[in-house]
Formats: sequence, structure tokens, C-alpha cells
Amino acid sequence: MSVISHAVGTPLDRLDGPDKVKGAAVYAAEHPVDRPAYLYPLQATIAVGRVIALDTAAAGAEPDVLAVLTHRNAPRLASAHDAELAVLQSDEVAYRGQIIGGVIAETPETARHAAHLVRVTYAERAHDVALRPDRDDLYKPLNAAFFCRGGGELMDGSPADSAVGDVDAALAAAEVRLDATYTTPINHHNPMEPHTAVALWSDDELTVYCSTQGVTLSRDLLATVFGLDPRRVRVVCPHVGGAFGSKVYCHSYAVLAAMAAQIVHRPVKFALTRRQMFSLVGYRPATVQRIRLGADPGGRLTAIAHDVVVQTAKAKGYAEQVAVCTRCMYAAPHRRTTHRLAPLDLPVPTIMRAPGQAQGMFALESAMDEMAIACGLDPVEFRIRNEPGVDPETGRPFSSRHLVDCLRDGARRFGWDRRGPVSRARREGAWLVGTGVSASTHPSPRFAGNTTTIRAGPDGRHTVLIAAADLGTGTWTALTQIAADALGVTVDEVELRIGDTALPPASPAGGSAGIDSWGTSVVETAGRLRALIDSHHGGVVPPQGLEVTSDMPDNPDAAHYAMHSFGAQFAEVRVHADTGEVRVPRLLGVFDAGRVINPKTARSQLLGGMTMGLSMALHEQGVVDPRFGHVVNGDLAEYHIASHADVGSVEAYWVEAEDPHTNPMGSKGIGEVGIVGTAAAIANAVHHATGIRVRDLPITLDKLL
Ligand code: MOS
Repeated sequence: MSVISHAVGTPLDRLDGPDKVKGAAVYAAEHPVDRPAYLYPLQATIAVGRVIALDTAAAGAEPDVLAVLTHRNAPRLASAHDAELAVLQSDEVAYRGQIIGGVIAETPETARHAAHLVRVTYAERAHDVALRPDRDDLYKPLNAAFFCRGGGELMDGSPADSAVGDVDAALAAAEVRLDATYTTPINHHNPMEPHTAVALWSDDELTVYCSTQGVTLSRDLLATVFGLDPRRVRVVCPHVGGAFGSKVYCHSYAVLAAMAAQIVHRPVKFALTRRQMFSLVGYRPATVQRIRLGADPGGRLTAIAHDVVVQTAKAKGYAEQVAVCTRCMYAAPHRRTTHRLAPLDLPVPTIMRAPGQAQGMFALESAMDEMAIACGLDPVEFRIRNEPGVDPETGRPFSSRHLVDCLRDGARRFGWDRRGPVSRARREGAWLVGTGVSASTHPSPRFAGNTTTIRAGPDGRHTVLIAAADLGTGTWTALTQIAADALGVTVDEVELRIGDTALPPASPAGGSAGIDSWGTSVVETAGRLRALIDSHHGGVVPPQGLEVTSDMPDNPDAAHYAMHSFGAQFAEVRVHADTGEVRVPRLLGVFDAGRVINPKTARSQLLGGMTMGLSMALHEQGVVDPRFGHVVNGDLAEYHIASHADVGSVEAYWVEAEDPHTNPMGSKGIGEVGIVGTAAAIANAVHHATGIRVRDLPITLDKLL
């Protein structure tokens, strides 16, 4: 145990990379099971109403069809508490695309074919899918069910409203004022690997190979729905092909797969199509955001108000926390934030990369750009002038906040000083050229519910067991590096096992909390193991090996510090003067994410976030047809995402700054901060290039003509 290694901080290649490249990594749908049957769902083709007749005779008569599952023959679930998961428990239809049945057959092709033979008759009711901020049925978010603890217990969200001082009076008295409304549309996650579940029962035990960001949470949700002791449910998912939040919570498809396996007494495989994902796995809800800012002539903010209307589903009141970012960003003596939910007859939304922050910071950071111009100040300088000394919301110091360093370093790297203050001033041929900046932030929390077991062998090898998840983020690699350093061995001497509820429980890979939570758990357990070896075994692992299990400690500093990651994003855009096309030759971000565990995977996380932010800025929009209540562009042919042609270079850097309070590694969350602010930086650059302020995402060419 005398080896001192320094794995943390080295750009180690992904440990799971070779298996993924070779096709040897097994994803959920590929898990071999004995004689699998295949499932194809029936989905509602009305927005609201009831199923009054179902003719399944033709489907059931097809050769190789094993069963047709509907609300009439579906098993009764033990809990219908979560309306999204209460699959086939009634004849009610709450949104178009809702699961109203499923066909189980010997082959996926047969199941799909037979599903199209089922005739459904509905009693339709009027529906409402239009997000209007002037509705009279708006309600305050309950803010339950936002993030979750490892045990499936739901963590309270933030309060719906906050108020400090007298915003209205301060705005009335301000010498410089802004009052602007920004909107963001529905966005869809679209990870490469669609959502899949392979379900099998033996006696009263359920096993599900399920594409998930958190096996423990999925297990607990499924156990609740089916009324099983969690020890009788096993969820397995070592590899995940992307998720972006859509695989944190369990969705209805997994319940349907488990029900189907119950009915046919065989393992059932269910892989969603891309189209089905547009109504069954959640999405980022649309927002309408009014921002009012007041400032003195010196460019110091006196008032900030951020009032949000965000849509949710009538079926389940998921509450997106859009204005929470505004509570920690800038120092103004008078502040107010409000959230109101607009319940619509749409599919159930869920968390999507930087949920709330991504939309909220588009609005706030666009408004900051407008206000900088109104004050006659450079947008970088304007932000620095309003940098708070402590967290404005709680009055607590920040555990670390290097936003000003990010802005300064980013400005230097980007060549910000070459920028003129006047918009529509630079033209190169047919292209109008401009630059823009935005700040970013994301909370850096720790989730409870983590336990680690470490086995030490006499050969110096260590096995680290924790039901963490690697959804393509680099967890496997970074957590192995943390374990190696904590154990005082090399990375080669550590075998990390994750993604299986047979391992000790873990919180999901969400909220940018993964490495903080699992890493703290691993470091704690490694410390106990080393102490045991030193105190009881003279520093030598005995021939039979040693095993230590420990729960993750709480962070005593969490009550005393505000913990957030930060960043500054810079964009250069070119807008075609005749066609309005937007190209982004350069995106450059500098981030404050504490100590970086693995520079290679961390950089990929930041680049991925920025790329998703670029996509949010220019393309992504789920278009709802008000007549039918569905997203009309629900496939990758029509739901546009950014491609290489949109962007020249994307660069991500960070300030070297270990956080002294977050966790034993000194790291902060890195998975989500990269997407926050990108869209505002691009919108601000578009304004600089064209003089046109686009307050409604995405920035499509029609808005620039
Ligand atoms: Mo992230 S939206 O918490 O997976």
C-alpha cells in the first residue's frame, strides 16, 4: 500500500472505449436471454379522452403473436401514484402517444405488424396544448420529484418563488430599465441508444436490463409500481448509449415490458423507435420568461425580476426550475423570481441536460446583453461589475466562484478586445459578422444514497463496487482514477464494477452530481480499507483478502456554502445578409468546475454541452400541432440538431481551481454547465452581427430577414 499514484488529473483514455469500439460492450437490449419475446406498443392517436372499444381479434389471430395487452387484461399495479408509470390501469388517455396497449410476439416484425391490426375507438374530449402565459389556471410548481435520492426518495426542489426587497419600486426608480420576454420551445433528448428494456420474471423476482442513468432509482420505482420488495427487483445496465436526462427516471415503456413478461411468462424485449421516443421518454418543456432589469447609470443592477411560465403535463406535474439560476448570478438589492406551471394535454416532460438552467440562462444572459448595451457598457465588463461577493439568495459564501476569471481568460483567448461596440458594423462579403458572450452556471450538488464496497486482494488488486452509471460521460474512467489515488495504487490495479443493483446502491447520473456523490463514497470506503489494513494487518493484505463497505458521508460544508460550477462562453457568428442563415465559426468556453479529474473526458463533457447549446440556439424545436396535440416533427429527419456544417471550432478550457468545500476530490459538476449560456452567447452574437434581437429560440433564418 505504499504506492503513491497520481491518476487524478491525467487524460486517461476511456477504459470502456475499446469494448465500445469493438462492439463488445453489451447494451440493455442486447442482453442475451432465453427465448425472448418482442413487444411493440399501441399508442393513443387522440390527445384526450377514453378508449371505448378495442378490436384485437385480427392481431391476436396472427401467427406467432403471443398476447395483446390492453387496459382490459393488464395486471393491476400495486401503485398508480406516479401517473406516468400507471400503465394500462384505466381507459383514460391523457396525451397523444400514451401507451394504450402492446403486442407481444415471437419476432419484433410480427409484433409491429400485428400492432397495426388493432382497431381502437375513442371518445374524444377537447384538448389544450398551447402554451399561453395569460392562462387563468396557472399554478405554482409543487417542486417535488425534481431530483432524487438513491433510495428513490424524492428530493424537494427549490421554492417556486423568491423575493428580496421591493422590485417594483426599484424598477420604477431605475435610470436604465429593461422589460423583455423570451421564449424557449420543447426540446427532445435524442441519445444515440434508444430507450430499451428486457424484462424477465422468475417466481416473484423481476430482472430488467434497462437503459438507465440510475439502476438503483429504476429498481426502486419499479418495485413500488409492482408492489415488490426492492430486494426482489434487479436492474442491470453497465453501458448506456447517451441519455441527457431522459434515462434518469423510469418511464412507462419499462413498466409495459415488465407487464408483458408477466403475461407471456417469458423474457420480453422492448426497444423504442426514434418516433416513439418523442412521446414516451420526456422532453425539455417550453417556457415563456419575462425579465425585468433596472440599473444605475454606472451599470450596477438595482433590480432583477425573472417571471417564468413553463408548461407541464396534466398527467403529471413535473416542475422545471427555470429561474433558479437567476437567484445566484448577480448582485442586485431587489430581486424576484416566480414560477408558474401551465398544465397541458401533452406528454410528460422530464429533466434534460441543465434542466431549467438551459432555458433560464438563455433569457437572463440575453437580457444582460441588452442591458449592457442600454448602459453603454461592454458586456464582459457589465457582468464583472455585477459580480456578487456572496450568494445573493442565501447570503452564504460560494465554495468557489471563478466566473470573473473565466470571463477574463475567455476574453483573452477569444480576442474579445478586437470587438467594436456597434452592431451590424462588420461585413465580409455577403456575411454579417458579430461576437457575443454569456455566463454559465449550474449547481454542484451531492446526492444521498451511495454505498461502496471495496475488496482488496493479496496481489494488490482491488475491486470497487458501486451501482453508478456511465452514460457516455467517462464515469468509468474518472471514478477508477479517483479509486486508484484513494487506494494508493495504479489504475491497472483497480477494477470498477457499476450499473447493476446487485452492487451497493448509488444515486443516478444526474444533476451533475455523479462524480461528487460516487467519488466521495469511493474515497471514504478506500480510506477505511487502508486504515483497516494498517491498523489490523500491519499494512499487508492477508492471503484471504479484505472487504470493506461504507456509506457515503454527508458534506458538513453543504449547509455553509453555495456550490455551483461556472463558465463564460464566447461565440462568433456569421449571418448571411440575404438568406438569414447562421453559421458559428467559433465557440469558446472557459469553465470553473473545480479540480478536473480527467482532462480528456472533462473536455468532451464541456464540448458536448456546448454543441448541444449550439443546437438549442439554432435548430431544436418540438413543434406541437394544436389540432392533434402531437409533436409533428417527431423524428430525426425533421427535428433538426446541429451538425459539423454549423460550426467551425469548439474550444473548451477551464481555470485550474480546486474547490476546498465540495468533496474530497475538490471537483465540481461538469456534465451540464457546458450547455448553459451557449444559446445566449450565440443570440447575443447574432444581435451584434445584425442588430436584430431574437428572443425566441431557435434562431431560425426567418427571424433574421
Ligand atoms: Mo441530467 S438532465 O440531470 O441527466
